[in-house]
Amino acid sequence: MSKKNILVTGGAGFIGSHTCVELLTAGYNVIAVDDLSNSSAQAIERVRQIAQMELEAGRVAEVVRAQGLGKLMFHQVNILDRVALDQVFSQQPVDAVIHFAGFKAVGESVEKPLEYYHNNLTGTFTLCDVMREHGCRTIVFSSSATVYGDPDCVPLTEVAQKKNATNPYGWTKWMIEQVLTDLYTADDRWNVALLRYFNPIGAHPSGLIGEDPKGIPNNLVPYVAQVAVGRLDHVRVFGSDYPTPDGTGVRDYIHVVDLARGHVAALQWMEGRSGVEVINLGTGTGSSVLDVIHAFERACGRALPYVMMPRRAGDIAENYADPTKARTLLGWEAEYDLDQMCRDSWNWQSHNPNGYED
Ligand code: UFG
Repeated sequence: MSKKNILVTGGAGFIGSHTCVELLTAGYNVIAVDDLSNSSAQAIERVRQIAQMELEAGRVAEVVRAQGLGKLMFHQVNILDRVALDQVFSQQPVDAVIHFAGFKAVGESVEKPLEYYHNNLTGTFTLCDVMREHGCRTIVFSSSATVYGDPDCVPLTEVAQKKNATNPYGWTKWMIEQVLTDLYTADDRWNVALLRYFNPIGAHPSGLIGEDPKGIPNNLVPYVAQVAVGRLDHVRVFGSDYPTPDGTGVRDYIHVVDLARGHVAALQWMEGRSGVEVINLGTGTGSSVLDVIHAFERACGRALPYVMMPRRAGDIAENYADPTKARTLLGWEAEYDLDQMCRDSWNWQSHNPNGYED
């Protein structure tokens, strides 16, 4: 049987690159599309390398063992560029799209709302329009637990109310979920999965791909990793007076490889269906900021300096997923714990102290 073609927007990014690996080892052809504005073409070469390593180690699906790895194609294209995107779709049939491409810095989105709304929303409109023209109506969207806002209770199930976002980035996730839902209402051939991620961290265990934020990281784990490697001085702990066991914020950290596999599980489940399905991708375990710092200390083998600071504007005390739906529907659940996530983050960071730069 011929392999299915999956187009991955943002395929060179942090979650995108890990998902490309899992798609290849599961037996798909991958068409990665990325404008490289916040990622590196090197990630694509390393995806190729990892997939080959996984094949040699036998860690691939039966079909890959029998037929070899699928193709990995890369196009440096911005999804706002309708003509270029149309050309990519014209080169081969596309069976499904996994849509990661978008701006993602919460703080920056407050400073540049127009840029965020334009890039994330118009990019998605263009993508869906081109998909429709080419008869492709299956899309997995990279949404976020941010759509739950400040939750009334945890763990969060998918039926929890969507609340007002606290920044334009969060609103773009919120709105795109609505747009894709409305597409299905208008045409019931659409097949949509809205995957709500909790906090993706970690890196591929090979240490070849990982998170490579430009400038000073906003997110906790990349920041801690740069303290561990000596690029930053100390960790700033935003808030120590939350109503949580140790007073610091609690989140559901999920290994990026687990998250990537969740996308493959979603695609497999979606085959031959139509509809809109909202699915949380989390572990179900909450960890505090101090838990993360201490797990990272175990990973890198030394104490990491940290300083207690006031709360960061817009942060909530705690959120973590109820991952039951993903387990029952997709047969997927996260395998890796916080220690493994931090070991893999450290492995990536220590081997690539400047990310993909030489
Ligand atoms: N934190 C620190 N110091 C830092 C950075 C973060 O103490 O330098 C704390 C935060 O206050 C929070 C926790 O670490 O308690 C996690 O913060 P992150 O910035 O890593 O992640 P957030 O939970 O704020 O946001 C993440 C993603 C968003 C997404 C959201 C969904 O970055 O894209 O989860 O809940 F929308």
